[in-house]
Parts: sequence; C-alpha cells; structure tokens
Amino acid sequence: MKTLVIYDSVFGNTEQIAQAIGNALGSQKDVEILRVSNVKPEQLTGLELLIVGSPTRQFRPTAAINNFLKRIPKNGLKGVKVAAFDTRFTMSVIEESRVLPFFVRLFGYAAKPISDRLKKKGGELIIPPEGFYVKDSEGPLKDGELERAAAWARLAIKT
Ligand SMILES: Cc1cc2nc3c(=O)[nH]c(=O)nc-3n(C[C@H](O)[C@H](O)[C@H](O)COP(=O)(O)O)c2cc1C
Repeated sequence: MKTLVIYDSVFGNTEQIAQAIGNALGSQKDVEILRVSNVKPEQLTGLELLIVGSPTRQFRPTAAINNFLKRIPKNGLKGVKVAAFDTRFTMSVIEESRVLPFFVRLFGYAAKPISDRLKKKGGELIIPPEGFYVKDSEGPLKDGELERAAAWARLAIKT
C-alpha cells in the first residue's frame, strides 16, 4: 500500500512519532516518512494511505501543516485512506496552569482539525485522530509513546 507519513516538528518529538508510525507500517519501499516542508504535490498521486501529524501549538497544527492541507485540491484525496495524529502536553502539565484547562476544553488539539481537513478533501478516515504525549514543551516523549504510536498505526491498517 503506497503510504506517506507527513509530519511537522519543532523539537523532534513529532518526528520520532512519525518514524515509529512509518516503521510499523511494514514494507519500507511503499512507506515514505516526510517532513511537510519537503513534500512535493506530485508525491500525492497514486497514494493509498496518507497519515499527517503535527505538534499541537496553541491548540492547532503548525502553519506549515495547515498550508499543506489547504493546498490539497478539492477531492484531491478521493479514494485515499487517511489518518491524523498530534503530539501534545499531558493532562498533568495542562492542569498546572490555571487557564489552560479551560482553553484546551474549548479548542482541543491539532489531530482533530487535521483529520477534518483530510476528510473534507475526500479522504476516508480509517482510525480516529490520536494524540501522543510529551513530558514538557521540548519533550521528551512520555515513556511508551513510540510503542503506542506503532500500535495505533498497525490498528489503522487492520481496519
Ligand atoms: C508555543 C507553544 C505552544 C504550545 N501549545 C500547546 C497546546 O495548545 N496544547 C498542547 O497540548 N501542547 C502545546 N504545546 C506543546 C507542544 O505540543 C510540544 O512542544 C510538541 O508536542 C513538541 O513536538 P515537536 O518536538 O515535534 O515540536 C505548545 C508548545 C509550544 C512551544
């Protein structure tokens, strides 16, 4: 299955998750893991599965991920299976702040708007959006998150 895992990453944590997901999907010749800034539009042709991930920054995906999603033509993902993930703070970090819990409840995280946009472009969502946790802004990832990401990816292609 021709697959692209496209990600953005500021401190490297989302990149690690993207790699864990890509590596879990099997046959390396069919799976490419690409930073969003290196994706060329023609790489989307003939695609069967597209997985997009971003760090959550102010409740949203990064500008680079948003721009990439906007540039996909209308119905450009017709017949393509899609999935979305993000990295985000743990609840215990969020609860250290007095105001953050309120805004997180209101605005959420990056993965949901990514999956909404992928579906709007015609993609078939094969697994609910998922978040993977960092212990602090710059990481590291919470223990076990790479394994959880690999399991999420394997579940996505089983369905
Ligand atoms: C400016 C900034 C804003 C952030 N906003 C959020 C947020 O709204 N919600 C959240 O859960 N985490 C937030 N974080 C934590 C990031 O999600 C975390 O830095 C990211 O997962 C790290 O991924 P990366 O190493 O791939 O950049 C923010 C971090 C920074 C630096």
